[in-house]
Amino acid sequence: MALVAPSILSADFAKLGEAITFLDERAVDYIHIDVMDGKYVPNLTFGPPVIKAIRPFTSIPFDVHLMIEKPEDSVEDYIAAGADRITFHTDATIHAHRLIHRIKEAGIKAGISLNPSQNPESVRYLLDDVDLVLLMSVNPGFGGQSFIPSTIEKAKQVRAMTDREDLEIMVDGGINETTGAAMVEAGCDSLVAGSYIFKHEDPMAAIDALKRL
Ligand code: DX5
Ligand code: ZN
Repeated sequence: MALVAPSILSADFAKLGEAITFLDERAVDYIHIDVMDGKYVPNLTFGPPVIKAIRPFTSIPFDVHLMIEKPEDSVEDYIAAGADRITFHTDATIHAHRLIHRIKEAGIKAGISLNPSQNPESVRYLLDDVDLVLLMSVNPGFGGQSFIPSTIEKAKQVRAMTDREDLEIMVDGGINETTGAAMVEAGCDSLVAGSYIFKHEDPMAAIDALKRL
């Protein structure tokens, strides 16, 4: 059974509250919130005020994915807005180790993310410190892109780099039943999916299909 984290990037932004209520009723494992600053990635989404506004709609953990430069300047704002987990990109900050511990000291979970071009060796010495590793299987910035197959090998590599059974490996980008199955097989615990769920004719069936992997 895979953990499922629907990405609200593919929801109708004019009806975000309804999307959160729908996911709440579906009892998904996490709600994945893509924060983009128009600099680290070429797209702009939402920040702490929007996260705070949707927080009362559910008690499902908010899995906040920061695609922003210098995440160390604003992590506290995302924590105050209601993030339960914060994942940042290791190449967006200089002192990743320090930032992981700042996030954990605030009482929430900390994750690091790797872009498709990044070597997992670069995070070897962070694997004992983080709660999760988010492998990008597309170049971040947009929903609806195609899965990059080398992520399968990368997940196996990360799994082999640690003895920690509680280290969560999550994948994000182009996930559907087929690519999700390949990633679970490679050692992934949790699946982020945006367009597969929200553009599906039956979003509930799409969530259930991913859960079953
Ligand atoms: C991309 C985001 C993803 C995105 C995934 O930068 O990090 O979370 O919503 O969308 P799909 O599942 O459509 O590839
Ligand atoms: Zn994401």
